[in-house]
Amino acid sequence: MINIAIMGHGTVGSGVAEILINKSNHIAKSINDDVNVKYILDLRDFNDLTYSEKFTKEFSDIVNDSEVDIVVEVMGGINPAYNFVKSSLAAGKSVVTSNKELVAAKGAELLKIAKENNVHFMFEASVGGGIPIIRPMARCLAANEILEVKGILNGTTNYILNKMIVDNMDFNTALKLAQDNGFAEKNPASDIEGHDACRKICILASLAFGKHVYPQQVITEGITEISLDDVDYADSFNCVIKLIASTKKLPSGKITASVRPTLVSRECMLSNVDGVFNAVMITGDSVGEVLFYGPGAGKLPTASAVVADVIDCANHKSFPSYIKWCDGEDGYVISHDEKTKLYVYAKSSNFAALNDQFNDLFGDAPCIKNEINGEIAFITNEELESVLQKKINKLSAETKKVMHTLF
Ligand code: HSE
Repeated sequence: MINIAIMGHGTVGSGVAEILINKSNHIAKSINDDVNVKYILDLRDFNDLTYSEKFTKEFSDIVNDSEVDIVVEVMGGINPAYNFVKSSLAAGKSVVTSNKELVAAKGAELLKIAKENNVHFMFEASVGGGIPIIRPMARCLAANEILEVKGILNGTTNYILNKMIVDNMDFNTALKLAQDNGFAEKNPASDIEGHDACRKICILASLAFGKHVYPQQVITEGITEISLDDVDYADSFNCVIKLIASTKKLPSGKITASVRPTLVSRECMLSNVDGVFNAVMITGDSVGEVLFYGPGAGKLPTASAVVADVIDCANHKSFPSYIKWCDGEDGYVISHDEKTKLYVYAKSSNFAALNDQFNDLFGDAPCIKNEINGEIAFITNEELESVLQKKINKLSAETKKVMHTLF
């Protein structure tokens, strides 16, 4: 019998409980043993559930019970999850989590504690919701040196942008719908300001390149400044706006990492990732480019990834973990000047002057001009980003917006 404790009975936790309880026969076949949800930790009362008797409000019930083999942490946030996870690992229990904030901040340390105690610390559900990504990256792509990882890692922002693009819906209405669907974080600022995608790219970068990347090292921008006008201009250039997270290994061994709204050409596969779906594109030196695609948030997709880790822990009790990376360091993540094309929007009450500057600085760049509104939007030709930024600074405009592009 494998005894499991679930910490947190929110969107994901309730999904994990449902799968473990309702599909116990299926899971028992996968692990050749019975599974039993022994405890569910939550401070709230859930008296009307068929499994209400499993609830406790005391973490000590779980950590002090030697029969508990696997602890599932789906509370979210750093505190008290960090202390609960550390204590569980130290007590010889494997831990499975969907908590990207915890893994992005403390992953290297928790992996080390798990190793010292000969147990697992697994977090497939922390990136990409239901998409298998951690395990395939660590195992199926193990022959490769990973060169680049990029993609759409936040379901809520992708859902909002998609509603703006397809339904012309305003930002706040779309956000409300994402919250109603259970995609958004408790504090949706984490989604719309890019922090959630930042945490996820930290996890993927740490796994890909073997050294911890911390959220504060990643250039992070959200989608709060994106308007329906931006969406329309992007469309005129045959592009859609997506929140793209990316990380790349440089020849020096240093890496770059960023999260930012990006104009993605409709010819690029990532432009077709709609709604709450996520996609991760990985470039390996042997395999080339591979794409992982699927539901990036939501109760059962995320719970499906959590339960897969539970099954893996149960099947490989003493198997050394295939997930490893070491502590990070200052100066490991750097900004790197490279050739690119940028999207620029500028608005001025002196349109004639703006237009002259545009012609001088950017010449034949594809552009859309709206003289009545004093607006010009264009995509630069390819040049070093530092050179482009200097030219953009020379444009006299009351409003300017600059976005990266992906063609
Ligand atoms: N709020 C997250 C998202 C949930 O929208 O992607 C899944 O991590």
